[in-house]
Amino acid sequence: MIVERALKELSSILGPERLFTRHEDLIPFGTDATKLRFMPEAVAFPGTHEEISRIFHLANQERFPVIPRGAGSGKSGGALPVEGGLILAMDRFNRILEIDQRNLIARVECGVITARFQEEVEKMDLFYPPDPASIHISTIGGNVAECAGGLRAVKYGVTRDYVLGLTAVLPTGEIIKTGVETAKGVVGYDLTRLLIGSEGTLAVVTEIIVRLIPKPAHRRTMMAFFETASATVETVSEIIRSKIVPTALEFMDRTCIDCVREELGFSVPRGTGALLLIEVDGDKGLTRKEAKRVEEICTRQGALQFRSASRLKDSEKLWEARRNVSQSVYKLKPDKMSEDIVVPRSRMAEFIGFLETLAKQHDLPMPAYGHAGDGNIHVNILFDEKIRGEFEKAQAAVKEVFTKVIEMRGTLSGEHGVGVTKAPFIEMEISRPVLELMMRLKKAFDPNGILNPGKIFPYKI
Ligand code: MLT
Ligand code: ZN
Repeated sequence: MIVERALKELSSILGPERLFTRHEDLIPFGTDATKLRFMPEAVAFPGTHEEISRIFHLANQERFPVIPRGAGSGKSGGALPVEGGLILAMDRFNRILEIDQRNLIARVECGVITARFQEEVEKMDLFYPPDPASIHISTIGGNVAECAGGLRAVKYGVTRDYVLGLTAVLPTGEIIKTGVETAKGVVGYDLTRLLIGSEGTLAVVTEIIVRLIPKPAHRRTMMAFFETASATVETVSEIIRSKIVPTALEFMDRTCIDCVREELGFSVPRGTGALLLIEVDGDKGLTRKEAKRVEEICTRQGALQFRSASRLKDSEKLWEARRNVSQSVYKLKPDKMSEDIVVPRSRMAEFIGFLETLAKQHDLPMPAYGHAGDGNIHVNILFDEKIRGEFEKAQAAVKEVFTKVIEMRGTLSGEHGVGVTKAPFIEMEISRPVLELMMRLKKAFDPNGILNPGKIFPYKI
């Protein structure tokens, strides 16, 4: 609880115009892409590291929670004020500070929208590959907090593979720099990696130094339609086995295709059970060669049809439709539990078979799509909270999905994080000693537990 005295102090740190306390102003900050709701007590818009530091000192003194927030596009509730407190809205940290073409690095503030950063970089013929589906709304700071993946991870890796160093404010108020501004560096523990994916529970990341790569000269987008979802993911395993590494290898089952059919803007061959969206990039010769190999594999695997997007505009449209699947499946039911499990790529067909049976058993739609090239499948368990028993059925199904994933030596989350939604399940994957070590780390960073409480861990630390 933020007492009156603390609110006054916050107002003197920020100025009244950068502190929201009115109920109607707070409402948008109480939710995110999970659609869960919790009310914060106030929202702060700090503009400097020193202001954040002073806010943390105050929070330790008065013991109120501080929850960092980027664009609120998170899928596991990382930015939700589950115990009330103060939202730290990082909107003002929105500058691209430097794009250094000689050293192929960039310095960027946490509140910059990832797509905007990518566009700026690409104007210089450089490339920042991480591209979460939420790229047009999510911020690079949020991507770092969750270690976001995205559509191109199969070839280019995820956010952590591009971050060289960070500036952050610790919950105890110190302003720190981690990592390097050089191409490599191994001095001391790798705190950069520790902070990436820590879901805003260890520090507030304010500035990010990333490495860039040259922009690939050519891209080619293709589509293959298959009779069944299992045949589609089998083909993914075959492509990977043949040692081709496409830029993207995305899978959508029939239900997902139907949900974005208008946006896709093409007719789907009769009998299609799922499709594969494939992109290769590189120089002209390589993209042509890889595209040909991919077509051969898809045909051999029994594709009903194989198509190339002839123009860049067509392929942009396809990728946009793919990015919208997550929202589009709400057409089927008003509520969903959306998971981002990962299984070994060679066992995806087994997992898809399991999911189809589970959907029948629970009589709920469970459309699946996602980054098949990584074995990362977005399982969407749809339900209607207002229909008696559906929420409970969905909950039971999530548990069964996770049990199967662990049994298959997979992981509960490939890119969305644990947050609040997966905290009750973390012990299915993380052993007791490891969880306790994580808790000790959390305590070392945040002895009073003021920073983003109620996330990752299944019980109070
Ligand atoms: C996606 O790949 O579409 C995202 O990770 C979002 C989601 O699953 O909802
Ligand atoms: Zn995804």
